[in-house]
Amino acid sequence: MKYKAFLVEENEGKYSGSVTELDTDQLPEGDVLIRVNYSSLNFKDALSYSGNKGVTRKFPHVPGIDAVGVVESSKTGDFKAGDEVLVTGFDLGMNTWGGYGEYIQVPAKWVLSLPKGMNAYESMCYGTAGLTAGLSILKLVDAGIKPQDGTVVVSGATGGVGSISVAILSHLGYDVLAISGKDASDFLVDQLGAKQVISRQEFEEKYNSRPMAKPEFAAGIDAVAGGILSGMIKSVNYNGVVTCCGMVAGVGLDTSIFPFILRGVTLAGVDSVECSIEDRQRVWKALGGEWKPNVLTDLAHEIGMSDLESKLKQILQGQAKGRYVLKH
Ligand SMILES: NC(=O)c1ccc[n+]([C@@H]2O[C@H](COP(=O)([O-])OP(=O)(O)OC[C@H]3O[C@@H](n4cnc5c(N)ncnc54)[C@H](OP(=O)(O)O)[C@@H]3O)[C@@H](O)[C@H]2O)c1
Repeated sequence: MKYKAFLVEENEGKYSGSVTELDTDQLPEGDVLIRVNYSSLNFKDALSYSGNKGVTRKFPHVPGIDAVGVVESSKTGDFKAGDEVLVTGFDLGMNTWGGYGEYIQVPAKWVLSLPKGMNAYESMCYGTAGLTAGLSILKLVDAGIKPQDGTVVVSGATGGVGSISVAILSHLGYDVLAISGKDASDFLVDQLGAKQVISRQEFEEKYNSRPMAKPEFAAGIDAVAGGILSGMIKSVNYNGVVTCCGMVAGVGLDTSIFPFILRGVTLAGVDSVECSIEDRQRVWKALGGEWKPNVLTDLAHEIGMSDLESKLKQILQGQAKGRYVLKH
């Protein structure tokens, strides 16, 4: 069966993508063939598109770590033709051709039924960014951190993980301090409900210039690492929790053991790629239920294949605001 996909090709060390006609016979082996309706754009997709070998080793390649659609055929009894399903993470879009094609073929264990409480488009407004925001918030909730415990600080706040974290936490009644490199208080405060915005530079100067800072936050959700993550660890309250999922600002972490041994701080790693089906189901259920922010669709923009390349470039430059959903 012929279908269209955004195929990234390598030519003398340079990478470029174009909409190309492929055949489903070219798809990798898998249990479930899915007709994709929507995908979404994440930082990892931008890395794959740019030829980052840590994400995608072999080209030509179809990126897209998220996909939602309808089962065309299934070799296992878990799914049947016509089921609405969702795939995020695992190897999708990394070395297995992903959601920027109109079809994907994947192992059945990667596939979830479309969660209750959301339609296909909304599931991609979340995508991997939303799952990661949800897994991060779950760490706070499981640690017993409640809105009355104080402010939660969120970094990379206009990005995918950050903006959804800000929206969900505000929806749940937490006061959020959003860290951003952009002049974006209209988006973060007026639209998503953050209480305040602080620039990356001011946050680092205030909270990362000494081994410990004044404890001011109940928790932190970090998507960028570097000095911002270090500053969060140094400034959360006694028994505070800081989650860590991303490395937009680097892979470094400059801290001493003081926040851990003097304040009982927990640094909680978040992985949306290989996390268990149980954790995925728990988070997706909450994302379709009590956590679903009213602004979910407002923070996303629908795009077509013709816009894909320019938006991936925007993400690579750290210039994107909110989420992009790709419609096939
Ligand atoms: N562990 C996991 O399972 C998992 C899952 C999803 C994502 N991630 C990782 O999490 C990170 C964020 O992903 P995303 O999809 O949210 O990316 P994104 O949409 O590109 O957002 C990243 C945001 O980080 C901020 N930023 C950009 N450059 C920066 C810099 N040099 N220093 C500090 N902040 C900077 C920007 O927000 P402001 O301008 O508002 O500061 C940007 O919008 C990425 O590293 C991604 O690979 C990990």
